[in-house]
Amino acid sequence: MKKKVTKAIFPVAGLGTRFLPATKSIPKEIMTLVDRPLIQYAIDEARAAGIKEFIFVTSRGKSALEDYFDHLPELENTLRKKKRTDLLKTLKDTNMDSGAIAYIRQHRALGLGHAVWCARRLLSNEPFAVILPDDVIAAETPCLQQMVEAHAEIGGNMVAAMDVPDDKTSSYGILDIKEDMGSVVSVKGMVEKPPIGNAPSNLAVIGRYILSPDVMGHLNRIKTGAGGEIQLTDAIAQEIAGPDNVYGYRFKGQRFDCGSKAGFLQATVAFGLGREDLRDEFRDYLADMMSVRSAAQ
Ligand code: UTP
Repeated sequence: MKKKVTKAIFPVAGLGTRFLPATKSIPKEIMTLVDRPLIQYAIDEARAAGIKEFIFVTSRGKSALEDYFDHLPELENTLRKKKRTDLLKTLKDTNMDSGAIAYIRQHRALGLGHAVWCARRLLSNEPFAVILPDDVIAAETPCLQQMVEAHAEIGGNMVAAMDVPDDKTSSYGILDIKEDMGSVVSVKGMVEKPPIGNAPSNLAVIGRYILSPDVMGHLNRIKTGAGGEIQLTDAIAQEIAGPDNVYGYRFKGQRFDCGSKAGFLQATVAFGLGREDLRDEFRDYLADMMSVRSAAQ
């Protein structure tokens, strides 16, 4: 029987340079989409997928992230006294059980592959998930849940994938496809950020992975790759020659790159419009803005 995926690694030790100066003092993952930090979206997605243990790979300056998961008994008591059950529930939904969460330090930002490797001692011989919280995915069935369900059937290593235009392939890890079965593709190669014109397909890897424990072994031996960083993609690519297959999973949903300014703004609009309590006012405001703009043109 295939082992269940119950542990997820959240690598949050990056420098977040695209969001300077904000990231001088706040971790990117604490930045707020409507009223919840990015990390909360990632945690909710992981919980929906059945994840029970949450492993954060952090770095210097990320204490706000660690504090975010602490219980606040004083605030909870005040809300209870004031009978603010709605806010109390919102607050309690962010609480994590004792022992469910672990923090491990990446001392130098040597790349995503290195960040994942830092968590090696917290895993045993079981498949594990990796979630990059700056990729926020709006989906009816949360993306990782879709992947866990597919993984329970086919096993192996699975990376979330989406089709991107030709001029964007150089920004992603790109899959070389062996067989395209629709939502699942089997993979015969992976290239990290290929130069434009050299991509083996348009299918890009985004920040959700279910990986076999052997990937940690490959990370033990791997050298720096594209951009002088230790690339997770390179370690996964080594699985292709091994007994476990590598699959791309075309998830159903919309992904926002909240690590970039444009992506974050787009997500803010999409999630704002998705909220019942804000939708009408926000939509009217956006419509007014657009009509003022077109009148000015
Ligand atoms: P990014 O490529 O978005 O890098 O990392 P970054 O440092 O966060 O942001 P920019 O590019 O400087 O603006 C993708 C994910 O990998 C993690 C990041 O925290 C993010 O979740 N990461 C990256 C690490 O944990 N450690 C690293 O050494 C590099």
